[in-house]
Amino acid sequence: MNNKINYTNEKLTSFASVVNGKLPIRKVSKNETLKIGVDLGTSSIVVTVIDKDNNPIYGAYEYANTVQDGIVVNYLESVEILQRLKQKVERVLGRKLTTACGAIPPGTGESSARIVANVIEATGMDCFQVVDEPTAAGLFLEVEDGTVIDIGGGTTGLSIFKHGTLLKSIDEPTGGTHMTLVLAGNRKIPYVEAELLKKNKSRENEVFPIIRPVVEKMASIAKNAFDKDIVLPVYVVGGSTNFKEFENAFEKVLKVDVIKPKYPQYVTPLGIAMYDNAGE
Ligand SMILES: Nc1ncnc2c1ncn2[C@@H]1O[C@H](COP(=O)(O)OP(=O)(O)OP(=O)(O)O)[C@@H](O)[C@H]1O
Ligand SMILES: [Mg+2]
Repeated sequence: MNNKINYTNEKLTSFASVVNGKLPIRKVSKNETLKIGVDLGTSSIVVTVIDKDNNPIYGAYEYANTVQDGIVVNYLESVEILQRLKQKVERVLGRKLTTACGAIPPGTGESSARIVANVIEATGMDCFQVVDEPTAAGLFLEVEDGTVIDIGGGTTGLSIFKHGTLLKSIDEPTGGTHMTLVLAGNRKIPYVEAELLKKNKSRENEVFPIIRPVVEKMASIAKNAFDKDIVLPVYVVGGSTNFKEFENAFEKVLKVDVIKPKYPQYVTPLGIAMYDNAGE
């Protein structure tokens, strides 16, 4: 169990270092299989590239607000951003990206899956599958039995796995955006300023007590949704878990221990890429 999370953390750390330009990208050969994930999120669009053995190779992202509550609301801008990211990745890897897998929050339905596939295909990649976001996170974390809670910008997705099978998956429209709104209201500052303050590590001690009730609300959503069904261990992922006190606040409400991987914002995007069948 510990070994597994250490290994996962190593993968996430090396992926983050490559994305941030702190580690060189390994050479990609001409015929090597590349698996691509596209995460159209509420706060950013992320492209991930992994190899056939699911080892991360490279990734790129742009902040975007073309998706609301997990649904694409600005189709053209989503395509433009994804096109730019695709070109960047192609330039860096010296390879064309030909396929990609997309994802949607659980329960958002067939039509939102089709829109995600359309955005991907409009950039010239074949999209064979659109998966459930927390399920993708579960695959990356290699969860056989457990609960994965993905707290992004606009949504909190929860999935329970038993013997490697998804038992239950739900989505709630609460996320980091609500933390920022609470902070903006408390400090009487504009949203954009509050977003910067929220992400400023050196101000975390003063920020977290203000947004703590939102974290507790998320934990109580999880508790109510699962009640006795909850399967241990519980993992928390997504950009909004990036506070050192996050697990502690969550655990107090949920009354069980939670595991937070490193760079939790990359777990779902990397999991999505694992479903890309790369044309096979
Ligand atoms: N260092 C940080 N500290 C606090 N919050 C952060 C940090 N980095 C990112 N966030 C927050 O995480 C959220 C984005 O997380 P993530 O990238 O997982 O969301 P998303 O996938 O775009 O959205 P969704 O899954 O809801 O569609 C934003 O609200 C952002 O403010
Ligand atoms: Mg997300």
